Amino acid sequence: MTRTSTPPAGTASPRRAGARRGRAAPDEITVRPVRRADLDHVIAIDTLVTGIEKRPYWQRVYKRYGIGFKGEQRWFLVALAGKRVVGFLIGEVRDWEFGSAPCGWVFAIDVDPTARQAGIGTKLLAALTDALRETGVRKLRTLLSHDNTLILSFFRSQGMMAAPLIPLEMDVAP
Ligand SMILES: CC(C)(COP(=O)(O)OP(=O)(O)OC[C@H]1O[C@@H](n2cnc3c(N)ncnc32)[C@H](O)[C@@H]1OP(=O)(O)O)[C@@H](O)C(=O)NCCC(=O)NCCS
Repeated sequence: MTRTSTPPAGTASPRRAGARRGRAAPDEITVRPVRRADLDHVIAIDTLVTGIEKRPYWQRVYKRYGIGFKGEQRWFLVALAGKRVVGFLIGEVRDWEFGSAPCGWVFAIDVDPTARQAGIGTKLLAALTDALRETGVRKLRTLLSHDNTLILSFFRSQGMMAAPLIPLEMDVAP
């Protein structure tokens, strides 16, 4: 069982650095599905974190994951400190792909650098694991770059372990 499934969302420890530094305490953070008006803030956080603005990409992602369709098990969630978007997460259930039973995947998570280490990433992931649990899915996976030690530390802190999968790639000759 992952650590995210143990405490209910919103019960992060008050010892967190963000709270110490006067940032929004974890209890003041809310997580909800993205709205069209949030997209500029999501794009701004992604641009800040990656250094590349990809508006057309985010508009496609919003159409695919942000607009709820009946029966779709997709989540595009935002975390808010008051009314300010301070983070987002995108995940979904993939059925029978890669030869495995229906399984949750988180493929994007970003917290505004000014709001980190205050439990927001944990809250976002807990919201996804809660949603997965409700759908009956019992496994969550992700892929990460081997040199991204920050995201590795985060996912490890949430209880994620190496999966019995091997990512492969090849160049496609022109
Ligand atoms: C990873 C990320 C989502 C964490 O968000 P966050 O709100 O700061 O995370 P939390 O406050 O919930 O931290 C949970 C745990 O993660 C780990 N962690 C978080 N930041 C860390 C850091 N800078 N160094 C080491 N471990 C860290 C800690 O174990 C922490 O638990 P603790 O506070 O009890 O020590 C955020 O740093 C981020 O957006 N990073 C960039 C993400 C990225 O590269 N995205 C692209 C790929 S999808």
